[in-house]
Formats: sequence, structure tokens, C-alpha cells
Amino acid sequence: MSDRFAERLLCWYDRHGRKSLPWHEDRTPYRVWVSEIMLQQTQVATVIPYYHAFMARFPSVEALAEAPVDDVLSHWSGLGYYARARNLQKAAQQVVENHKGKFPQVQEQLEALPGIGRSTAAAILAQAFQIHATILDGNVKRVLARYHAVPGWPGQTRVLNQLWACAEQHTPHERIRDYTQAIMDLGAMVCTRSRPDCAGCPLNQGCQAYARGEMSQYPASKPKKAKPEKTTWMVILEDSNGRILLQKRPPSGIWGGLWSLPELDPAYGPDELAEACQQHLGLDCHEATPISGFRHTFSHYHLHIQPASLSVRGATSIADDDSHRWVYRDEAMTLGLPAPIRTLLGNPEQPALL
Ligand code: ADE
Repeated sequence: MSDRFAERLLCWYDRHGRKSLPWHEDRTPYRVWVSEIMLQQTQVATVIPYYHAFMARFPSVEALAEAPVDDVLSHWSGLGYYARARNLQKAAQQVVENHKGKFPQVQEQLEALPGIGRSTAAAILAQAFQIHATILDGNVKRVLARYHAVPGWPGQTRVLNQLWACAEQHTPHERIRDYTQAIMDLGAMVCTRSRPDCAGCPLNQGCQAYARGEMSQYPASKPKKAKPEKTTWMVILEDSNGRILLQKRPPSGIWGGLWSLPELDPAYGPDELAEACQQHLGLDCHEATPISGFRHTFSHYHLHIQPASLSVRGATSIADDDSHRWVYRDEAMTLGLPAPIRTLLGNPEQPALL
């Protein structure tokens, strides 16, 4: 069934849509297919020079099928997601071997080729063969999720099925090629992820998200996983001169390359810390005084930092080197410290009520 949706969209496309992208010239299934694979995870502006170079080197499905794989990969270098390039060549070989070099004009047969999913198959059918077929790429999902105010994250099958149903409902029987380009263009140019141009949108009259002023709520984003909670002791080891031991973090990972406090396994009890310092750092310390802990959030987990201060007995056995330094507190403030460590060392210590 087609409706005013398609009519309005096509009318907008005639005035504002993109009609002279490189893959719009000589729309053979081979050229359309290569463009669709390149455009799967890459922006149009980035794709264009790659597309020209690729077509110059591999002008036909046969040329691609018989090329050395390294040659194909080198023409993909910089586009990323190299599985796309490998699949592209495998699919080319299958088209040559199983379909006499002609792309099949049947959705299921296209989907059987490596790297071609439901939406890409439809994009090829619509654009190269002008066959009625429905696409649903990332841009189109956003347009439809907003237009119909479809709740939920499109990564969920239930939500995705609903979006496919909406997409099919709007796909017209006339001008399928233009409609396919038009709905992608609307998503890329008007119904953008942030700050969509609703005033300039040909579909604003029927758009449910627009009617509710809730454009930014559609489509819903991926549900965030709860971050794991980790705990660590951080010890403030003070020598008889009032200097504190800092340790350099490994170059990669959290706080990579920054100066921080030595850490100890949270399995140690407060009264085992002096012994742990002896064991792990070779330092002879007085009893530990735990001080107020706090939680710091990293991108992938929460870290409960439980600080404790200990004074070191007599001369220390750790000398300054690339990864250890004894510093006065004011000196520590001049170093590259992680913010929570800076706060901890900069504030008067509060004994914890453990
Ligand atoms: N993304 C996928 N196919 C596209 C096309 N034909 N034009 C612009 N962006 C696209």
C-alpha cells in the first residue's frame, strides 16, 4: 500500500534529493551493490573517492572475482570493516560461478550472497532493477521510528519487526528507485540524529514524534549495561620526611602513564595492610589508618577506592626511579595525577568510620 508519505517524500526528493552521486550513473547491479556495501558503515563523502578508484580498478564483477585478494583489500584500505571487502570478493566469485556473472533479481538469492542482508538486497533490487522492494538501513530506521513514534531500541527483534512493517507499508509501487534514494536522503539530510530540520521536512504533518515534540527520543538508544563494581585499596605511604610514595601507572589502560598511589588487593583487611606493604613493596610500616573511601566511575566499571595511610618506619627501601617517586604533597599537585587522587592528596585526611 502506498500513501501520502511516499508522495510527499518523492515531491521533496525532486527538489532537494541527491541525484548525481557516482553510483547514480550507469546503475548496473554491480555498481549499485559495491556502493551499498561501501556505504554500510561509511559516510557518502568518504566513500566517493574510494568508489571511483575501486570502479577504475575493478570495473566488472568478473574483474573483482579474479583479482588477488590483497589488491581488493588495498583498495579498501582506510574504509575499515575489512570483512566487507573479503565478502565483496567472495560474493563476486559466487555471482560469476553460480549465476553466470549476472546478479540474481530475487531477494532470497541476493541475501544468500556473503555480506548482503535484507536491506542491502532490497536496495539493489530497487535501484538496479526497479523492482518493488523495501529497505531499512540506519537512516530509514530513524525516520520511521520518529514518524510512527515506535518505542524501543531497534536492535531488539520486536522493534525491528515493527519498523520493517512500517517500511513496507510506505513503499510505493511507482518510482521505487527514487523513493529508495529519497528516504535515505531524508534521513541523512533532514531527519538527522541530532537537531533534525523538522520545519523543512516533507513528512512533518504526519510525524508522531514531531507532534509530541519528542524527536530526540526516537529511536531509543541501546539499553546501557549495569557497570561492574570493583574495589581497591590505595595506600598513602608517608616516609619520616613527610614524603608520599607515588607509582607510575602502566602506559595503557585506565589512568595510563599517570602517577597514582600504590594499590593493594581489597581482600586484605585493614589490619593486614602493613603486612601487605611489607610483602608487595618491601616497606616496613606502622599500622594502617583507613580514611574515607569514595567511588570513581570509569567508562566500563565503577571503582570503590578505599584509601589508607601508613607511615613508613626508618629509611625506605624504594628509591626514586621511572615508576616510583617519593614526593611532598605540594609537589604531587604539580604532577600528572588522576583527578580523584589529586583530590585525595589535596584534602586533609578524614579517618574512616569502618
Ligand atoms: N547509504 C546507503 N545507500 C546509499 C545511497 N544510495 N545514497 C546515499 N547514502 C546511502
